[in-house]
Amino acid sequence: MSNKPAVLVTRKLPPAVEARLARDYDPHLNTQDRLYSTDELLTLAQGAQAVLATHTEHLSADVMARLAGTIKVIANFSVGVDHCDLAAAKQHDIIVTNTPDVLADATAELTMLLLLGAARRASEGERLIRARKWDSWSPTFMLGTQFTGKRLGIIGMGRIGQVVAKRARGFGMEIHYHNRSRLDSEREAGAIYHDSLDSLLPQSQFLALHCPNTPDTQNLFNAERIAQLPDDAIVVNSARGNIVDEDALIVALRSGKIRAAGLDVYKDEPFIRPEFAELNNTFLLPHLGSATHETRDAMGFRALDNLDAVFAGREPRDRVA
Ligand code: DGY
Repeated sequence: MSNKPAVLVTRKLPPAVEARLARDYDPHLNTQDRLYSTDELLTLAQGAQAVLATHTEHLSADVMARLAGTIKVIANFSVGVDHCDLAAAKQHDIIVTNTPDVLADATAELTMLLLLGAARRASEGERLIRARKWDSWSPTFMLGTQFTGKRLGIIGMGRIGQVVAKRARGFGMEIHYHNRSRLDSEREAGAIYHDSLDSLLPQSQFLALHCPNTPDTQNLFNAERIAQLPDDAIVVNSARGNIVDEDALIVALRSGKIRAAGLDVYKDEPFIRPEFAELNNTFLLPHLGSATHETRDAMGFRALDNLDAVFAGREPRDRVA
């Protein structure tokens, strides 16, 4: 029997991360990358001292209670921890960690892709080509919206929001933001702070959502908020689907109040409301924000650094519970 700590790894991880896991731990790997049911997860967790989890598992209060006693730490391979009941974890002395910082660049790059894809009608154009239906260039053919000189509103100016601001500045956009607290002037870098959404939204010709999914932000982007945007606004979400009232967004995309939306996340993933795919003014991706080789390795190593700290009796760097 191995004397290394036993770790249940819920999803298939990049090879370099699994290699380090195998060197330092006794891992139960998910080689088929199957999505475990809660019962399977609980069965597989028996005998393990740690779980290396992702946001695809729902670690509810009940699950935390059933992991209590044996599981010392849940090291998440994600920055978002809305899939974990943190209060229950605390109550049962289960340490929970996440992987902040390392995915800011990749996610910000994807936000730029969503903004560009939505503004320049990328899905529509690509579909036309793939269907072999493009027959002629014309001065009025498939016109989109230009970035240069436009105002980009960012809701949630954490690490990802700040990188988005920097990239968007390179496209000649003026940055406006709302955040729980105002950034210092160095991190603000000329961005214009709004102390409320009521103030930010009417300025946001483009809007990027970058706030975490918490009880306070659920359905934050609803019909009332949409009505505050300028007509023809372009909206993107690479944070979490729960922040958006999808019914209200569909109505606004149909009416043209919102000219186009770029979405990477959805309320009920991997189920996607069929209306989103039916609309021409959407640019849709399947939760790829952090999906680069570099970032997924970095997320795995950061999760392992957190596990290493816990098993060495140190406070993990990214403890959230
Ligand atoms: C995150 O890290 O939260 C990403 O959405 C992937 O889970």
